[in-house]
Amino acid sequence: MKISVFFSPKEQPENLKGTAVVIDVLRASSTITTALAHGAKSIRPVLSAEEAFMLTQKSPGALLGGERKGMKIHGFHLGNSPREYSRETVQNKKIIFTTTNGTQAIGRARESGLEKIYVGCFLNLSALLEKLANNPTELYLFCSGRNGAFSLEDAAFAGLLCQRLGKIYQLADTAKAALAIWKMWDGRVLDLLAACEHGRYLEEIGLGSDLSLCAAVDKYSVVPVLVGEELISAVE
Ligand code: MLT
Repeated sequence: MKISVFFSPKEQPENLKGTAVVIDVLRASSTITTALAHGAKSIRPVLSAEEAFMLTQKSPGALLGGERKGMKIHGFHLGNSPREYSRETVQNKKIIFTTTNGTQAIGRARESGLEKIYVGCFLNLSALLEKLANNPTELYLFCSGRNGAFSLEDAAFAGLLCQRLGKIYQLADTAKAALAIWKMWDGRVLDLLAACEHGRYLEEIGLGSDLSLCAAVDKYSVVPVLVGEELISAVE
């Protein structure tokens, strides 16, 4: 079994068999994980705000969440900060969710035909590793990237998964490259998030406090998994 990494949306794989992990450390993966950890019933990732608005008509009571340019979308209940997805706000709620890069990466993983699609980030690292170690299949790490291109934080997190799973899986060249990136930051997650372009952008727009929320390793034991159209907490 081998781990391969897709570093940016420019890589559009087809007809894959195995498991995917979609990674958008800043911030979609971290927000999705936080919402499910706080009792959200499900999260429906969609590609556009228009699609999200249409779906609420069929799902009264659902919350609309997500961002464009990092900010809450006009008419949505919630933005894309893990801080907004508190238990009081999301418990037992369905959330319809769209973000610039993260929900698009989930869409690409779906189109690739993979059997199992998880969402990963520093917040659920150990729980995710347990899932990946227990039932090894071909493993594809989909980095969401930033505005269609490479992002350092997603590549580094992919490298951390490769480091921890290296005894069970072989590493493709892309996985070895991700591992080399992670080794530059090993143990310095907040420094990584503060140094990368998207972290600096979030600081600029006044959302710098989200970095420490996304850097909290193993804060939750929830692993989001796509079932049909929705992400829910993986049970088995
Ligand atoms: C995205 O999906 O593009 C991100 O999560 C952007 C953000 O930080 O809101």
